[in-house]
Amino acid sequence: MQIIKAKNYEEMSEIACSMLVEHVQQNESPVLGLATGSTPEGLYHSLITEYRKGTVSFQGVTTFNLDEYVGLDEEDANGYQFYMNEKLFNHINIPKRQINLPNGVSADLDKDCSDYEWKIQEAGNIDIQVLGLGLNGHIGFNEPGTSFLSRTHVVDLDESTREANARFFSSIDEVPTHAISMGIASIMESKKILLLVSGKEKAEALYQAMNSPVSEEFPATILQLHPEVTVIADELALSKV
Ligand code: GLP
Repeated sequence: MQIIKAKNYEEMSEIACSMLVEHVQQNESPVLGLATGSTPEGLYHSLITEYRKGTVSFQGVTTFNLDEYVGLDEEDANGYQFYMNEKLFNHINIPKRQINLPNGVSADLDKDCSDYEWKIQEAGNIDIQVLGLGLNGHIGFNEPGTSFLSRTHVVDLDESTREANARFFSSIDEVPTHAISMGIASIMESKKILLLVSGKEKAEALYQAMNSPVSEEFPATILQLHPEVTVIADELALSKV
């Protein structure tokens, strides 16, 4: 694992942005894996700034998001499609047909999951996957105990994850109980992974991700086995490493 220590959240976001911009500039059809949550918001803000400056075009970019809540459609302000539109896609020149998220309101969720895997493979796999880190070690929505062999699947959300994400909803009762997530095996097939971690609250989780024995009980430990992981974290998140 390569570790890049940033002074703070803003610097973490800037560093991640430069890496993605460089990749997009140098490749004709780049495939990016994107994440949601609070952590990548600064990255998306910086990407929009670079786009407006004319540094980068997203015309040839294809994206795959890690996850989506079951039951929330693209009009729902708490859904990840809505988040991605608001935070990034509505502000850059990526063609809509090149944007991919799991469909949380599909009539056949299992079929949607296998189609999603197929689409990723058809695109030649993800070049760079951006990841955040859950407090319990989840990546995407792969909760502790998820098989390392998992592919895109429907997951039962942990109570602790629902509580952590309740801040985006008006009450915890509104937080969905299920989500669709790219699996651990799907994530591990990405050519490169950028793990973004910020803040003191994540320090213990980051320490464990990097140092605990690789175990399905703490999903992010699998990243120790990936040949090209770059951790970009701020000083507070790295305070226990
Ligand atoms: C959420 C998302 C993950 C995200 C993680 C951390 O539940 N499904 O993709 O990386 O938890 O979120 P945050 O960045 O808000 O701390």
